[in-house]
Amino acid sequence: MINIVIFGAPGSGKGTQSDKIVDKYGFKHISTGDVLREEIKKGTPLGATAKQYIDQGQLIPDSLMVDILASVYDSLCPCEGVIFDGFPRTIAQAESLEALLQERGSQVSAMIDLDVPDALLVERLVNRGKTSGRADDNEATIMKRLDVYYKQTAPLIEWYKNEGKYRHVHGVGEIDQIFTDICAVIDKL
Ligand code: AP5
Ligand code: MG
Repeated sequence: MINIVIFGAPGSGKGTQSDKIVDKYGFKHISTGDVLREEIKKGTPLGATAKQYIDQGQLIPDSLMVDILASVYDSLCPCEGVIFDGFPRTIAQAESLEALLQERGSQVSAMIDLDVPDALLVERLVNRGKTSGRADDNEATIMKRLDVYYKQTAPLIEWYKNEGKYRHVHGVGEIDQIFTDICAVIDKL
């Protein structure tokens, strides 16, 4: 079974590329952001908690996020492959993911880092904010999300390098060209 972590800052193209991976490889897609936004839409207690963090551009607490991830994972798998989009976002989450997969006889196959410069990330998200309806797609919250990314999430680059699972992909340019580069990584797994 293949487990891919699709990694990158807000707006780096994780969701866009995940959709293409699903189409080509038939893997399951777990976007923790989408899961949380769905809970908000349904008006659940979990959604109410999540909203307090998302609207501020902050991360949901690790323990809560890990429980959600485990239950979504078990609802989709066993299966051929999974793309983790937006998870893990902290070292604690990466350690929990490793334990969760190990308990199920599996492991992370690769972490694909979509590398995009900040100015372009902001431009993409401000643009998307005109139509997305996402409460966190405004310039002030985008800047907070970037700050949180560099402080809490970017350390995972070194973490996955140490695991020998880090794969760099240049995330600027045509969506299809970036996807070709991602496929080259997946096809070698
Ligand atoms: P989440 O939903 O994961 O948001 P994010 O990481 O901020 O990333 P985005 O979804 O905004 O961007 P993306 O990388 O998917 O890019 P996209 O493909 O959309 O998380 C939201 C919040 O939920 C977090 O802030 C946190 O509060 C909470 N949360 C989620 N997971 C959590 C966790 N594990 N722990 C704790 N809290 C968690 O592309 C962006 C735009 O660019 C689109 O408009 C797209 O069309 C465009 N685009 C994409 N590729 C290209 C390209 N090559 N050229 C031009 N435009 C492009
Ligand atoms: Mg996304």
